[in-house]
Amino acid sequence: MSDKYVAAIDQGTTSSRCIIFNQDGAIVAVDQREHRQVFPKPGLVEHDATEIWSKVQAVVAGAVAKAGLRADQLSAMGITNQRETTVVWDRKTGQPVHNAIVWQDTRTAALCAELGGSDGQDRFRDRTGLPLASYFAGPKVLWLLENVSGLRQRAEAGELAFGTIDSWLIWNLTGGTDGGVHVTDVTNAGRTMLMNLESLQWDQSILDAMNIPASVLPEIRSSSEVYGTAVGQLAGVPVASALGDQHAALFGQTCFEVGEAKNTYGTGSFLLLNTGSRPVPSKNGLLTTMGYQLSGEAPVYCLEGSIAITGALVQWFRDQLGIIREAAEIETLAASVEDNGGAYIVPAFSGLFAPYWRSDARGVVAGLTRYVTKGHLARAVLEATSWQTREVVDAMYQDSGVEITSLKVDGGMTGNNLLMQHQADVLGVPVIRPVVAETTCLGAAYAAGLATGVWSDLDELSAHWKRDAEWTPDMAPEVREREYHNWRKAVQRSFGWVE
Ligand code: G3P
Repeated sequence: MSDKYVAAIDQGTTSSRCIIFNQDGAIVAVDQREHRQVFPKPGLVEHDATEIWSKVQAVVAGAVAKAGLRADQLSAMGITNQRETTVVWDRKTGQPVHNAIVWQDTRTAALCAELGGSDGQDRFRDRTGLPLASYFAGPKVLWLLENVSGLRQRAEAGELAFGTIDSWLIWNLTGGTDGGVHVTDVTNAGRTMLMNLESLQWDQSILDAMNIPASVLPEIRSSSEVYGTAVGQLAGVPVASALGDQHAALFGQTCFEVGEAKNTYGTGSFLLLNTGSRPVPSKNGLLTTMGYQLSGEAPVYCLEGSIAITGALVQWFRDQLGIIREAAEIETLAASVEDNGGAYIVPAFSGLFAPYWRSDARGVVAGLTRYVTKGHLARAVLEATSWQTREVVDAMYQDSGVEITSLKVDGGMTGNNLLMQHQADVLGVPVIRPVVAETTCLGAAYAAGLATGVWSDLDELSAHWKRDAEWTPDMAPEVREREYHNWRKAVQRSFGWVE
């Protein structure tokens, strides 16, 4: 076994994990802990950023202990994170001023409509690649400044720092109130709606329009460079990468060439297509977003299809409906029937993201008859993931002209064979999972290791990628098109629910 190790922290929507990799890109140790989901009202989702920081410290300690390593044996550490989730904290005390507002939270829907004014949803799209939607961080910052008493004055006095979770963790890891660095990377900054996609800097015209003082913002850096040195339990380890989790997964899947795409199945699913060194505008409901930027190099851009709810629908089926006890049971239940029995579930719990961007949508179950059983509903839950993915793949083709010939997949739901087969069936192309399916952490580790000389170049990383499983399409085209038609009809039924 090689003797260089890199740790990656993946701070996700439901849990934090730390994975330590060796120089072959193989996993040496993993530790993971969940954190609380706070739902103050329908549509609102919050996290306690202090709890997140303590869970992160715990998983780092856990992984280092399981690996039987000392901190000084780690060559670098990298950060990857749930994106858009917004933390504002006091620079002097290090305390968050409010719970973190999670990416799924819809409280800024009205604010976004107001910001759009007569230009509508696309007011900032040419500069940011994003439609005005409650998903993104900038309007969440504005909401906090306008709704938490005294915050605007404190922000204007320079007392407060804003960050997405990467910034919050890096600031704490590098010393917090005692000299912590306040930075973010281009992939995370690109999800605030405040970064200009061409200059890769905060866009003053948008800051003015949103009335956000520049003093709260972190410095924007590349995704792979040493931002600072850790203190505390990892004292001395260079903190050397930051990428939003979906960008890290693209990097871990080694989608370095134009036209390569990956889909990660987590709480939601996010399909990213590498479009190279120029941002490609979308006319079909996709986001123009960053792929990654290595230190001193030109940035790589992507088109992204963001689907808010996929794995979270299985959790809902388990926790809210209680039809299954373990998430994995859904596959057995779904396999107990031949098909969906005519039922479709559109999980518009936070409105619908790509390609619709409808904050007025809410979930629907369509096509119910007395024939439908819980087995059919289990199928409809899984199929909701593959149909939503089909919609973003279609949009990607319309926007880029790139017809994908296979899809690299990763994330928890790729352990579900029935879903992966259905995914291949409805896309009509093979679906391929790599041996190291922890691509999010792997990508963060790769970027940190590149910045610190653990790996020399992208070719070396590409050589690590190995196929583990492949699903090939096996559905008659007329069945596929009929079912797709039904799915899209169900989607239409979800619109306009919130007036
Ligand atoms: O944009 C939201 C995304 O980054 C969340 O990912 O894996 O934490 O659900 P995940």
